[in-house]
Amino acid sequence: MSDPNDNSIMLTDPLAEPQPDPRVADRFGHDFTEPTRSGIRAQPLTHIDHEGPKPKAILSINHVGKRFSVGGNTVEALRDANLTINKGEFICLIGASGCGKSTLLRIIAGFETATSGTAAMYGEPITGPGPERGMVFQDFALFPWLTVRENIGFGPKQRGLLGAGLKEVAERYMEMVGLTRFADYYPAQLSGGMKQRVAIARVLANDCEVLLMDEPFGALDALTREKLQADLLDIWTKTQVTVIFVTHSVEEAVYLSSRVVVMTAGPGRIERDETIQLPRPRDVSAPDFNEVRREITRMLTSHVMHA
Ligand SMILES: Nc1ncnc2c1ncn2[C@@H]1O[C@H](COP(=O)(O)OP(=O)(O)O)[C@@H](O)[C@H]1O
Ligand SMILES: [Mg+2]
Repeated sequence: MSDPNDNSIMLTDPLAEPQPDPRVADRFGHDFTEPTRSGIRAQPLTHIDHEGPKPKAILSINHVGKRFSVGGNTVEALRDANLTINKGEFICLIGASGCGKSTLLRIIAGFETATSGTAAMYGEPITGPGPERGMVFQDFALFPWLTVRENIGFGPKQRGLLGAGLKEVAERYMEMVGLTRFADYYPAQLSGGMKQRVAIARVLANDCEVLLMDEPFGALDALTREKLQADLLDIWTKTQVTVIFVTHSVEEAVYLSSRVVVMTAGPGRIERDETIQLPRPRDVSAPDFNEVRREITRMLTSHVMHA
């Protein structure tokens, strides 16, 4: 309900002190200062003791459990998973095969419902899929009969965008993923890396706020994978989208993320939640990178050995 005494609508004061770029500062909750290739760079996130505005929670996973019934048996995929994700973070979920990473991602996407607990976005329980939470799959899931431009424009078109508006959105996201020259190509004419770029652009063109990626680069060769990792970081920096990225690879997790969430198997639980403070761009061969990689590997293997 609105308060008649509330005069909080404020106009820009031309004499006010210059403020940090709100497109950056608002979403992440703090400042970004160091330039990179794309012009801005996130400082390490999730500092509880950071001065200034507190990071804003976008997703809350509260005591989430998931059981599947399979032929009279019950499989417990997740047990009491708790996780708060702030706007603009890049989270990697890592853990042994079968520990429930995909299940957790699918619950956030709204493809599965939790058996216990709640998954919520901005405090609202997630009850089904929505364009604000976009999933990118390993097998691309593009429409083979549509061109790059049409694949990317599909979601906005479904939601009623037409003509110049639709063209503008498709062009913007094609440019973001470097596929402008391939606008009229069909998926079958593209390499795996290009298809994955279309998949990312398609989700972003839907005004997605949370990009859910389930081992998205697992099917690609090492060089393509490295290129796409760098491109994804560039896209993340430009759009400030929140990313939840499932991977098996410790190196990939440490290279990409602002936080690594380590899950344990049988049934899946969130065991460790580590902020990665390494400055970007990260060098996978640097001693401090190796130290973090060793530490995360140690966390993972200790669970596997005790499983
Ligand atoms: N639809 C399903 N029906 C039955 N069991 C499932 C289903 N999805 C996942 N599981 C089981 O739940 C557990 C976690 O699976 P998953 O989330 O795919 O793990 P991960 O992605 O970490 O490899 C596994 O034991 C898996 O067999
Ligand atoms: Mg999986």
